[in-house]
Amino acid sequence: MDGRRAIQTLVNAARPEEIVFGHSTTALLQILANAMRSQFAPGDEVIVSIADHESNIGPWDRLKEFGVEVKFWPIDKTSLELRLEDLDALMSERTKLVCVHHVSNILGQVNPIAEYAKFVHERGAKICVDGVAYAPHRAIDVRGWDVDYYVFSLYKCYGTHVAAMYGKYDLLAELDGQYHYSYGKEKVPGKLEPGNPNYELAFSALGIVDYLVGLGGHSGGIGSRRDKLEAAFSAISRQEDALTDRLLSFLDAHNDVRVIGTTTNVKSNRVPTISFKIEGKDSGAFAREMDDYGIAIRFGDFHTRRLIEELREDGGNGVIRVSMVHYNTMEQVDRLCAAITAICGKNVVG
Ligand SMILES: Cc1ncc(COP(=O)(O)O)c(C=O)c1O
Repeated sequence: MDGRRAIQTLVNAARPEEIVFGHSTTALLQILANAMRSQFAPGDEVIVSIADHESNIGPWDRLKEFGVEVKFWPIDKTSLELRLEDLDALMSERTKLVCVHHVSNILGQVNPIAEYAKFVHERGAKICVDGVAYAPHRAIDVRGWDVDYYVFSLYKCYGTHVAAMYGKYDLLAELDGQYHYSYGKEKVPGKLEPGNPNYELAFSALGIVDYLVGLGGHSGGIGSRRDKLEAAFSAISRQEDALTDRLLSFLDAHNDVRVIGTTTNVKSNRVPTISFKIEGKDSGAFAREMDDYGIAIRFGDFHTRRLIEELREDGGNGVIRVSMVHYNTMEQVDRLCAAITAICGKNVVG
């Protein structure tokens, strides 16, 4: 229960029973899809964004087997944004659920999730959000945003290898059990945690909140643990903005580099997850060359395969991605930029 209470504080849920622990985000979303199955009649619709990680597509796509229609919310190829008018065109009275990411693990921009939730609710559907690429960077506020389900991986948010799903209590109570038949529907959240959560890992969630509360206190935050946690994320945003802006302005000025995503960071709306391609260079070969400079960056599709294919970026071993958090430094960004210059030459604009 202490672990659930910690995540309750982290996401600002109404009660600890709204927190479901699982092995990973992928596993939790599969459990959610299984547990919703009896809510769907053949012909009902689920809409998923094309830009989501496969974790928030595959479990819903597999519902096709039960007659559920799965529709894809496209991305605008120019702005690289999900547009509500495109979602509107897809939604019908048969739409039961919209599944979308909060931050793309490729594009890095923060989606207006409260606006999406309002839009979806006004049309009578529920919203399921993948918060994995958002959670390490900004404060989660499930009640403020009024989302129905919000899933993220604690191991990508300063914690251990475990994941958490928030669900509104009444919605969790309606879900089909995924555990012993003797567990009634009212056994929330236990009926959604087959085999029980790993207790040690669930308990370790306290460490994430302790860390953030400590950071918030050092950054001048006062008041409740939640207040300090929010102060921590304000400080995190300031440091991340500095890192993001420095790297984006370097990449944007380099003639051989093409950033995949927006190159501006307006009102902290861009996290330092920055993908790019280098003209005429294989992304895998480039990432391996970076090893010589002691810099760890990755390449590929990051399991956001449908977006990478849609953008036709799957050739040349996909995209290169730099993933930073608040404990990265400006000096590290400068080392990275120097390494890119050493590998690609100094082909800058102007
Ligand atoms: C945006 C996003 N969603 C989902 C996942 C899957 O998370 P997990 O490894 O906990 O299944 C990842 C992992 O990289 C991710 O980046």
